Amino acid sequence: MNTFPTLAFDVYGTLIDTHGVIAALEKHVGHKATGFSRIWRDKQLEYSFRRGLMKNYETFTVCTGSALDFTSDICKTHLSRQQKKELLEIYRTLPAFKDVTDGLTRSKESGFRMFAFSNGTADAVEMLLNNAGIRDFFLDVVSVDEIKSFKPDPAVYKHFLKRSGVAGADCWMISGNSFDVIGAVSAGMKAAWVKRSPEAVFDPWESEPTITVKSLAELAGEINKYVNENPG
Ligand code: LAC
Repeated sequence: MNTFPTLAFDVYGTLIDTHGVIAALEKHVGHKATGFSRIWRDKQLEYSFRRGLMKNYETFTVCTGSALDFTSDICKTHLSRQQKKELLEIYRTLPAFKDVTDGLTRSKESGFRMFAFSNGTADAVEMLLNNAGIRDFFLDVVSVDEIKSFKPDPAVYKHFLKRSGVAGADCWMISGNSFDVIGAVSAGMKAAWVKRSPEAVFDPWESEPTITVKSLAELAGEINKYVNENPG
C-alpha cells in the first residue's frame, strides 16, 4: 500500500491549454479564431470517442489533424496544407495554464506520486511537458497509445493503475474534462475535477467528482483534507 496518494494528471485541457492556439489561429481565420478553436477541440475528442468505440484506433495526433481538416471545412476557412502544418506544429508546444507550476509544486511537496496520463502519444506529451518546463514533476508519462484505445474506455484507467502499481482507491484522476472524471470514477478511481471557469458545467450523470477545485493551486490542500476526513 503506497503511503501517499498517486495522482494521474490529464494533459490536454488540464495541464496544457488547448486554446493556446487561438493567437496563431487569428492570423489565419481572424475573428473566427475562438469559435474555430472550440469546434476543433470538440471534434478532436469526438473522433477519439468514435475510434475507441469502433475499435478503429489511430493516434490522438491523427484525431487532431482530422479534426483540423473538418473544422477548416465547416468554418469555410479553407486553410492551406502549409497553414495546417504550422497550426499542428504549434499544437505540439501549447502553453501550460497559469496555475500549473504552482499547483504541481504544492502536490510534489505533499509527497504525492505524480504521473501524466493522456490520450496523447508519449512523444507528443513529453514534448508538451518539456516545452512547458514541467516534465520533472512526473515520475512517468502513461499514454493510452500503449493499449490502443482512448479515454473513457475503462481499459485505459485499468492500464494506468497497472503501470503505476496502485489500486484505484489510492489513485486520483486530476482532470478538467468531465468525461475523464466520470470515466475514472466509473473505473474505481478517485477524481478531482479542475473547474477553472465558473461557467463550466459537469455532465449530469450518476458519477460525481470526489472533489472539485477551481485551480491546481487548491489541489494538494483539498486532497489532503479529503484523505484526513476519510481515513482508510
Ligand atoms: C488527454 C485529453 C483527453 O490529455 O485531455 O487525455
